[in-house]
Amino acid sequence: MGRPQHHIFICQNERDPENPRGSCLNKGSKDVLKCFKETIIKAGLRDRIEFDGSTCMDCCAVGPAVVVYPENVWYGNVTVEDVPAIVEAIANGMVVDRLLIPDEQVRKS
Ligand code: FES
Repeated sequence: MGRPQHHIFICQNERDPENPRGSCLNKGSKDVLKCFKETIIKAGLRDRIEFDGSTCMDCCAVGPAVVVYPENVWYGNVTVEDVPAIVEAIANGMVVDRLLIPDEQVRKS
């Protein structure tokens, strides 16, 4: 497939449910990763867009966290319903503004 144009990282970190930091996996990030896979393949974008689960990206308070490179776009509170909009935005060089993590919250929790 060669090098992708875009690479999406979806946090899959899990903590004990009692941990006050919370974790993306406990907020549904496993389903979000699955939905990215299905959406990208269905859209025929598999050659252009790579996706992988990641460890904690220190945005736990606003997880599930999703980061897109090389754009360096950080999304928070991502649900499966948000995935099609993110994939469409990546394919068209756009950003889903409503999901952006504010700069002051990036890598702060
Ligand atoms: S647990 Fe996902 S960003 Fe920390």
